[in-house]
Amino acid sequence: MPRPTRPLLSSISTKTVMALTGLGLLGFVIAHMLGNLQVFAGREKLNAYAKTLQDLGPLLWVMRGGLLALFVTHVACAVRVTMWNKAARPQPYVSAKPQRSTYAGRTMLMSGLIVTAFVVYHLLHLTLGVTNPDHHALVDAQGRPDVYGAVVAGFQQWPISIAYVVAQVLLFFHLSHGASSAFQTLGVTHPRLAFLKHGFGTAVAAVILLGNCAIPLSIATGLIPCGGCGAR
Ligand code: HEM
Repeated sequence: MPRPTRPLLSSISTKTVMALTGLGLLGFVIAHMLGNLQVFAGREKLNAYAKTLQDLGPLLWVMRGGLLALFVTHVACAVRVTMWNKAARPQPYVSAKPQRSTYAGRTMLMSGLIVTAFVVYHLLHLTLGVTNPDHHALVDAQGRPDVYGAVVAGFQQWPISIAYVVAQVLLFFHLSHGASSAFQTLGVTHPRLAFLKHGFGTAVAAVILLGNCAIPLSIATGLIPCGGCGAR
């Protein structure tokens, strides 16, 4: 059977788009983590922050649309590149021993799919209130949605916290390889910027792992109090 071929230019542009959309999504993950870490400053801070976002109104929907477009484009490019790579090598290697590749690099599609499944669950949990409608319905003393209460009530349940931590570990693998590889694809060549291709992805991914895991773990262990959020 003739091998499907890919035009070189198309391959390069798909990888470039995948790199740019991936870096855009990384930016969202960092901003989202910084916003969420306000849970350590208490109910007032986190709920005020959430209310500010909700009050953006139509602008919030434009931002959500942009985020969705980044995500769909990133996944479409990833599937395309994976299919090309498979088609280019229909015969498996004689030696299955991977050469100069990392575990994170070889499992990008799998970690990406599991992180996607996590995001779907996460939206059902905290944004849409489908999995825990009682948490989502909480309102604070000022009549604002009690996002602090919903987060604390959710993470007080160990199975939910463990699911989040597992997802964050997979996100770490995905980002640590993805960020370095994106800068490689974008042709960062200046010696002073070499760190972007080596180590930067792992460092950023590690900070995100620590920041995102600190929230469920601090709540599940009782470090962050519920403070009358009505759960349990
Ligand atoms: C422990 C870690 C996390 C916490 C505590 C958290 C918390 C939240 C909360 C409270 C909301 C709902 C905000 C609201 O309705 O006002 C939310 C929405 C969301 N989260 Fe997270 N999140 C975490 C990790 C993540 C990660 C790792 C991702 C992506 C990989 C993510 C993606 C999203 C998305 C896409 C939304 C919807 C944003 C929107 O409604 O416009 N979250 N998160």
